[in-house]
Amino acid sequence: MVTEPTTSQTGTPVASDEHSLTVGADGAAVLHDRYLVEKLAQFNRERIPERIVHAKGGGAFGTFVVTEDVSRFTRAAVFQPGTTTETLQRFSSVAGEQGSPDTWRDVRGFSVKFYTTEGNYDIVGNNTPVFFIRDGIKFPDFIHSQKRLPGSGLRDPNMQWDFWTLSPESAHQVTYLMGDRGLPRSWREMPGFGSHTYQWINAEGERFWVKYHFTSNQGNVEIGGAEAELIAGADADHYRRDLHNAIESGDFPSWDVHVQVMPYEDAKTYRFNPFDLTKVWPKADYPLIKVGTHTLDRNPENFFAQIEQAAFSPANTVPGIAVSPDKMLLARVFSYPDAQRYRVGTNYNEIPVNAPIAPVNSYTQDGAGRHGFKPASSPVYAPNSFGGAVADAAAAAEGSWESDGDLVRSAATLHSEDSDFGQAGTLYRDVFDDAAKGRFLDTITGAVGGVTSAEIRERAIQYWTNVDAQLGTALRAALSGASAEYIGVAE
Ligand code: HEM
Repeated sequence: MVTEPTTSQTGTPVASDEHSLTVGADGAAVLHDRYLVEKLAQFNRERIPERIVHAKGGGAFGTFVVTEDVSRFTRAAVFQPGTTTETLQRFSSVAGEQGSPDTWRDVRGFSVKFYTTEGNYDIVGNNTPVFFIRDGIKFPDFIHSQKRLPGSGLRDPNMQWDFWTLSPESAHQVTYLMGDRGLPRSWREMPGFGSHTYQWINAEGERFWVKYHFTSNQGNVEIGGAEAELIAGADADHYRRDLHNAIESGDFPSWDVHVQVMPYEDAKTYRFNPFDLTKVWPKADYPLIKVGTHTLDRNPENFFAQIEQAAFSPANTVPGIAVSPDKMLLARVFSYPDAQRYRVGTNYNEIPVNAPIAPVNSYTQDGAGRHGFKPASSPVYAPNSFGGAVADAAAAAEGSWESDGDLVRSAATLHSEDSDFGQAGTLYRDVFDDAAKGRFLDTITGAVGGVTSAEIRERAIQYWTNVDAQLGTALRAALSGASAEYIGVAE
């Protein structure tokens, strides 16, 4: 068998893979052993910062096929009838660091990158339709409260419940988290949501508000807390392995993609704020409309190059799709590209997994790692009179909404049925069956049982009483008899 010679990073054959250059067999290693130096120096730089949230994850490539006609709502090429688009999907846990067990109770990330002919379109969602907060200014505080104490480096139920109970808008998402949704059996067997309200614009310029729903064709399957703990100990990479093995064996997971569509004008008078990320839109008001099917059928060939360096962002929109006045979404539009310039490097969009299939005609240039460039004769500024790319002024009107008023810092709860606890109560009472209610009580009893501050514990009981009075009573009773056991709920 003829094998290639090992080379240095500049292609020069090296003399040994195993022996350093030394002064005599037992002598000192020398600095001009450039291959030894290169190997050690490169090794020291193998890791990049992990994602500040959603650090542990996995993913695969796939295909999105539009099976229905939603062109009356959006002109985006990716959603036109019959269109097929290559995709990348990454799943993740929120709070755990790299290496943390997949089956710790948490919300799961659900990110899809569509490599469309009009540029990359990313939906960066979760397996829940809502979130813990409704203003991006609270996000760092929220995450700090769920991660680790600065002194001990341990997670702390006091911090978690202090933040949640002082932020009652969290109740709906915490109800999802402590319910069965917090422990899916696999990434394949859970739904995905864009969560936020986005804007769609059709060919006539008509605007609509939309929410994305990915419905798992594998069904939604959850595991109990005890099983999750066992798996966490036995196989920290349970979800990553499950996805990899399923795809490797030709069992390709898929999700049907639906949208809820709200006519533009409805938002002004709807009974609660449709841009509030802590709320769902009842399907009775806005039913699911099918768009197509997303199937994952290719494992990454290199986990670091294609999954760790993947950069998903709600800022990546395409013509016919825009953001909405959701304050969380607007904060995220800044946050992701900023994180990725730091985490992956300023030219992260040139890395193959992030590079669009659409042509890039940008006047940005240079920076660490830059390798793409135009011919030297191309103009490097706009406007120019040398035939350089020209922005599309017609696009300026797209993605707009009416907005006026003084600059304020306000909660903006202007709609008649806005309430922090209403939909959490509905989820608990009307969606959970009796068995799910029992598991839910067990979970919150264990989680609140870990709170050592009497004040925070009392506030937590009141929080659940506000969600449902009987639940609050049952929790108080259970806590009085329960041992204070920290169950690892952190997210
Ligand atoms: C204002 C609120 C938020 C901020 C500031 C924020 C910030 C971030 C940051 C900085 C990252 C790491 C990005 C990277 O390094 O590549 C991230 C990852 C992520 N976030 Fe958020 N986030 C927010 C809210 C949300 C919400 C509401 C969702 C879901 C609906 C979400 C889902 C995700 C997911 C799925 C990832 C992982 C993306 C991947 O797979 O690479 N985040 N977030």
